[in-house]
Amino acid sequence: MDMLRALFARNMALPRHHAPVLEEMTLNGIAKYIQSGKGKRILCMVGAGISTSAGIPDFRSPGSGLYHNLQKYNLPHPQAIFEMSYFKMNPQPFFTLAKELYPGEFKPTVSHYFMRFLRDKGLLLRCYTQNIDTLERVAGLTDDNLVEAHGSFHTSHCLGCQKAFPLTWMKEEIFKDNIPVCDECEGLVKPDIIFFGESLPQRFFQCIQTDFSDCDLLIIMGTSLVVQPFSSLTNRVSETTPRLLLNMERSGQTDPIMAALGLGSGMDFDSENAYRDVAWLGKCDDGCLALAELLGWKEEFEALVTAEHSRIDEELTTAKLQGATIGAHHS
Ligand code: OAD
Ligand code: ZN
Repeated sequence: MDMLRALFARNMALPRHHAPVLEEMTLNGIAKYIQSGKGKRILCMVGAGISTSAGIPDFRSPGSGLYHNLQKYNLPHPQAIFEMSYFKMNPQPFFTLAKELYPGEFKPTVSHYFMRFLRDKGLLLRCYTQNIDTLERVAGLTDDNLVEAHGSFHTSHCLGCQKAFPLTWMKEEIFKDNIPVCDECEGLVKPDIIFFGESLPQRFFQCIQTDFSDCDLLIIMGTSLVVQPFSSLTNRVSETTPRLLLNMERSGQTDPIMAALGLGSGMDFDSENAYRDVAWLGKCDDGCLALAELLGWKEEFEALVTAEHSRIDEELTTAKLQGATIGAHHS
């Protein structure tokens, strides 16, 4: 390896080694960075892993991930269920899955509330999410706080005439086992989630113009960072911006050989050149709680989560009671 490195060094300019930007390459180092006032324009990049503790499966975890559990749909390959070309030919599997996975309750996780908490503290520049479950909104993030990079179920459009349809209509169609069809042109109606083969929303391309150069701390949670162009966003922050990964496994890393050579633009948690990337491995809810504790905000943060969860539980109980009353009147 040393020989290779020497060879590369002779033949091309190797990137300079950076001075560490964190006191410690740990969660504590990140907490100190925030406490020092250096991390006050935080970008969060999140994926399906922040919603698994709300009972929504992710895509790629062995065993529980969605792509490992689609055998009954007889797809040519698992991702076909979210591919535009396959959907136009055979929309049934997608809508059957949508019914099966439709959340019974919308209860954001500790990780969702952590982003809301950062927002309330004036520290959140933006949350970039790949998720379509809208839990960031339920947790209190606003349109302005969010870039829903892979769209959401909130609205739907006809693939023929582009007529818009609301979620209430789409939900009814899904639960009646209908293939949703446009009342204007009989075209197929699809929720506005981004399928493979579709372009990401305009807002994504607008916001990335400035957000990543403005960012002074990147927090990445619950994503395997394998789907482009989302995953490449990690490289858009400046070279001195720390990047924290809270995930069950390492993701987004530079190929180890490239890392050893000091090349490659992915995350570098472990090489001798590592200077700003921290991987905290475990459940991201626990990572958020640990970070809140290091920042001295544990009680305040836990109080927010408890209050919001009780509010949602109360709303659900009221809704169920009303449902029961209506049911009783009808019978
Ligand atoms: P993946 O399923 O690819 O990755 C989820 C990541 O979260 C994995 O690295 C898990 O180990 C980790 N994880 C799961 N539960 C966790 C927990 N409680 N705490 C911490 N980490 C946890 O999901 P995404 O990266 O979101 O796109 O997938 C990206 C895109 O691929 C999705 O938006 C979707 C999919 O195809 C489209 O459909 C266009
Ligand atoms: Zn139409």
